Amino acid sequence: MSRAAVLCGLGGALPATAVTNEELAAQLDTSDQWIRTRTGIGLRYVVAPGEATSDLAVAAGERALESARRTGGDKAADVDLVVLATSTPDRPCPGTAPGVAHRLGLGTVPAFDVAAVCTGFVYALATAASMITAGVAQRALVIGADTFSTILDPTDRTTRAIFGDGAGAVVLRAGESGEPGALLGFDLGSDGGGADLITVRAGGSRQRSTGEPPVEGDQFFAMEGRPVFTEAVINMSESSQRLLDRVGWTPAALDKVVAHQANVRILHAVGEQLGLEEKQIVVNLDRVGNTVAASIPLALTDAAAEGDLLPGHRVVLTGFGGGLTWGSAALVWPDIAPVTA
Ligand code: UT7
Repeated sequence: MSRAAVLCGLGGALPATAVTNEELAAQLDTSDQWIRTRTGIGLRYVVAPGEATSDLAVAAGERALESARRTGGDKAADVDLVVLATSTPDRPCPGTAPGVAHRLGLGTVPAFDVAAVCTGFVYALATAASMITAGVAQRALVIGADTFSTILDPTDRTTRAIFGDGAGAVVLRAGESGEPGALLGFDLGSDGGGADLITVRAGGSRQRSTGEPPVEGDQFFAMEGRPVFTEAVINMSESSQRLLDRVGWTPAALDKVVAHQANVRILHAVGEQLGLEEKQIVVNLDRVGNTVAASIPLALTDAAAEGDLLPGHRVVLTGFGGGLTWGSAALVWPDIAPVTA
């Protein structure tokens, strides 16, 4: 056995306002039937005016810390590291994580953001787990939080149908590789050749250095759905398979794949590529849409709360997103009580 990062707390948070497919159809040229059949999504949540990513991150963080306390006692919430995955920070500068740590009353712990869009949570998890195994940290709060409703083009029926706001968080503690909850391995990758497929063109140094205001529309999020769909299926499948090979699990021995919740057709295609049955694939996007960096921890929270994810289950998390980026993580599910939204 060797030192490992062990998952010991889990929580999620959603904003108060739900948006149904029918409500979108009243504003845009779309329908409940199109959205359900092409994406599997029935509902998403959006922040209120003035509400920010950090507000959701703090709520999810509080719940994950409470979840850690319920199984490990008060000391379980004494984290000495905060890593926040987000592509919708409160402000371009500084990072959002220090403010989140401050509001959570965590003192002067190191806190920083990780930007890997929909893969952000897996990247943040790998970063925090590595810092724990290296002895730099003992306990970490890892949060995925995004408010894509704040960067969507209000007239774009495709992205507005898919994306929703939310936050999910886990607590990691130092432990041993043989314990339930120990992160057993990661597979991470990127391909910057696909950077233009998922992007906000304006607002960064490339555009600002021109001295010109952004071209109309470039301030909004833009995605080329079809190639992104293909890349998501290929990279989540291949990354999961590489990790399974490394960990020594066959797909049949796997209990659950918790993949980034982008589109139910993507989830089924990944399942097909890996030779999985439908019951092995966790789905919660019907209720929350694509919540970007919050997607995997929110799916974990829902699945654990509903008894779909049980102690002892062999679990692979896999994500894909802008960058392009992808990443997977493997663990045996621990006996923890999530605190839900
Ligand atoms: O989170 C990061 C990773 N993101 C993803 O993984 C998203 C991956 N992509 C997808 O999930 C899908 O490509 C979409 C859901 C974005 C689009 O579904 P699609 O089946 O690939 O549709 P499409 O883009 O090929 O469009 C088919 C038709 C088009 O109309 P025409 O040109 O055939 O007349 C679109 O304009 O569907 C139309 N369309 C819509 N119709 C009604 C696109 N969005 C909508 C909509 N309502 N909301």
